[in-house]
This record gives sequence, structure tokens and C-alpha cells, in this order.
Amino acid sequence: MRAVVIGSGVGGLSAAIRLSAMGLEVLVLEKLGGPGGRASVHQAQGFTFDMGPTVITVPPFLEDLFATKPGDPRLYPDFPQEEGLAHTERYVKLVPLDPFYRLHFPDGTHFDYKDDPEHLQREIARLAPEDLEGYRRFEAHARALFQKGFLELGFTHFGSLLDLLKVAPDLSFEALDQVVELCRKHGLEGLVAVNTTLERPGLKSPLAEEAGGLSGRPLKGRSLEVLRYLAGVKDLTLVSVGGVESPMDVWERLKLGARLVQVYTGFVYGGPLFPRRTLKGLLRLMEAEGVRSLTELWVSIP
Ligand SMILES: Cc1cc2nc3c(=O)[nH]c(=O)nc-3n(C[C@H](O)[C@H](O)[C@H](O)COP(=O)(O)OP(=O)(O)OC[C@H]3O[C@@H](n4cnc5c(N)ncnc54)[C@H](O)[C@@H]3O)c2cc1C
Ligand SMILES: Cc1cc2nc3c(=O)[nH]c(=O)nc-3n(C[C@H](O)[C@H](O)[C@H](O)COP(=O)(O)O)c2cc1C
Repeated sequence: MRAVVIGSGVGGLSAAIRLSAMGLEVLVLEKLGGPGGRASVHQAQGFTFDMGPTVITVPPFLEDLFATKPGDPRLYPDFPQEEGLAHTERYVKLVPLDPFYRLHFPDGTHFDYKDDPEHLQREIARLAPEDLEGYRRFEAHARALFQKGFLELGFTHFGSLLDLLKVAPDLSFEALDQVVELCRKHGLEGLVAVNTTLERPGLKSPLAEEAGGLSGRPLKGRSLEVLRYLAGVKDLTLVSVGGVESPMDVWERLKLGARLVQVYTGFVYGGPLFPRRTLKGLLRLMEAEGVRSLTELWVSIP
């Protein structure tokens, strides 16, 4: 079997190595003069310029690639198990730079960025002590994002619908507690709250007695109630749905801790411009409350 990889950036080259380890005959096509893509270098007047990356953040990924053997293509989505850099060093020698960066400022001062968190804080304290507290908060936030986004979600397969569980609004709080426990037990990522309801809350329509699930505005109150109840569950991702029809509805749910908000019925009645209108309105609400990003909002939720 043959495979064609278009582009010889690090992504294309890695894919080509893995495909050839699977036994495929691989052809790599590149439109520029040489390989490397954004990671290529430019040489001029005796100098070599990095065109893009300067920091190799996770050397074990390179080692994993260089350790790839025919018939053992290592396609598993795990954090690389390889220790050391023996395979890499058969091809290239990685030399740690100390410091990583030296930033020069026009007033003659400089800032060294090293592989040493305490040194970094000392450098900030030396040049801009008023920024130290903010840096520490940023560092804690970045650490939490790295843990979740890279170490956990980076190796999570999202192909299964079973990663999210949708709950009925008609469940009692006790039943919701049991659902949360089941999600934890089975390692689910989160909950979508809520589906349509079998109740007919406050409905006076002659159609109220019709069978089936009810969606839209009559569901709003219960959907919010369930979200408020689940808001204390910090280890599951919450997706809120049910009766959303305005930017304020979305904003309210995000402030309660929902990471995603879904709209179904509101979209039907709101028409094709509904998402645009809602997002613009949401931005205005965020501006009015001085919230610059959703990350900032979520970090502020206790
Ligand atoms: C300034 C800068 C600094 C960075 N710093 C870092 C860093 O410190 N650490 C880090 O890990 N990452 C860094 N990055 C990110 C890193 O460079 C990229 O993520 C990585 O190089 C992307 O590789 P890629 O193979 O996905 O894409 P690319 O490198 O963009 O490769 C795509 C290739 O496909 C080719 N191509 C596209 N279309 C066609 C076509 N139709 N036919 C043939 N060829 C085609 C292109 O010419 C190119 O060679 C930096 C990026 C930049 C720009
Ligand atoms: C016609 C219709 C079909 C639906 N089909 C599904 C479905 O297949 N799967 C699902 O999880 N929810 C389904 N739902 C529920 C919605 O995804 C949503 O949870 C519910 O309608 C509440 O949101 P809303 O008030 O914005 O409509 C459906 C809702 C309607 C009205």
C-alpha cells in the first residue's frame, strides 16, 4: 500500500515516519525548496536563523519518533514511555541552552529565561517586582491548563459518545447524585444537562396533553435548576441546554460554570442569524462586566 503526505513540516515528517513503520510506501510532497516547514532554518551571511520554533518542549515525543521500528509504529495515544534520548542521539544531539532566552531591553537591562522556576521569579522581582504576584497567578493557571489540556485531554480519545452523558430534567436531585457518581466511576468527561422534559410546566396550550418531550422556554427554569445543582461538581465538564434563547441565557449559564451551552429550540425560532446575534450580545455582556475571556470567568468561579 502507498501513502502520500503533503507537506514536510514536523507534522508531515512524523506522519511519514509512522506510516512507513506501518509498512506503507510513503511519498512526501513539499512545495518549498526544502523540508521543515515552520521549523526550517534560513541561512544568510554566515548566520543561521530559526524560522519558527526554538524551544523543544517535550523531547520524549522526538525520542518516541526516533525509536519507531518497522512493524511497531507506536500509534498509541499515550504520553511517550521512552526514557532518555538514546534513539534521538543516533541522529541529532540535543544540547540544553542556558539560559533558554536572553531578552535585551533598550535601557541596557536584560532578562534571562532559564529552566528554573525560582530563577524566573527572581528575574521578574529584579526587573518588575509589581508583576510578580500576577506572574504567580498566571503560572498557577497555566499549570492547571497544562495538566488538564495536555496531560489529560491531550491523550483522551473523544471519539466515543459515552464520554458525555445527557440527563433528563425530570430526574430528582438524589438521582442526579447517583448519575454523577456513575460518571466518576466510569471515567466520563462530563454531563449535558438537560434533555427534553415529560412535565408540562405551566403550559396552558391545548396541545399540552400531547405525548413526547417538551423543549424550549417552558424548560428554562428546570434546566437552570439542574445546572445550579450540578455547579458544585467541579471534576466533570458541564454542558448546559434547555430553553436558551438570548445572550443573557448563555451568559447566565457560563457564569454558573457551564463550559458549553447548546441551543436547539431557540435556534429554530431565532433563525439562521441566531448564533451571530447571540455571540455579539454575549460579548457585550462580558464587556459590561469587565470579563475579557471565558477563561478569566471560569478561573474566577470558586
Ligand atoms: C515564530 C514561531 C515560533 C514557534 N516556536 C515554537 C517553539 O518554540 N516550540 C514549539 O514546539 N513550536 C513552536 N512553534 C510552532 C511550530 O513551529 C509548529 O507547530 C510546527 O513547526 C508546525 O509543523 P506542521 O508540520 O504542522 O506545519 P508546517 O511547519 O507549517 O508544515 C507544513 C508544510 O506543508 C507545506 N505545504 C503546505 N501546503 C502544501 C501543498 N499544497 N503542497 C506541498 N506542500 C505543502 C508547507 O510548505 C510546509 O513545509 C513556533 C512557530 C512559529 C511560527
Ligand atoms: C425535535 C427534537 C429532537 C431532539 N433529538 C435529540 C436527540 O436525538 N438526542 C439528544 O440528545 N437530544 C435531542 N433533543 C433534545 C435537545 O438536544 C435539547 O436537549 C432539548 O431540546 C432542550 O434544549 P432546547 O430548549 O434548546 O431545545 C431533541 C429535541 C428536539 C426538540
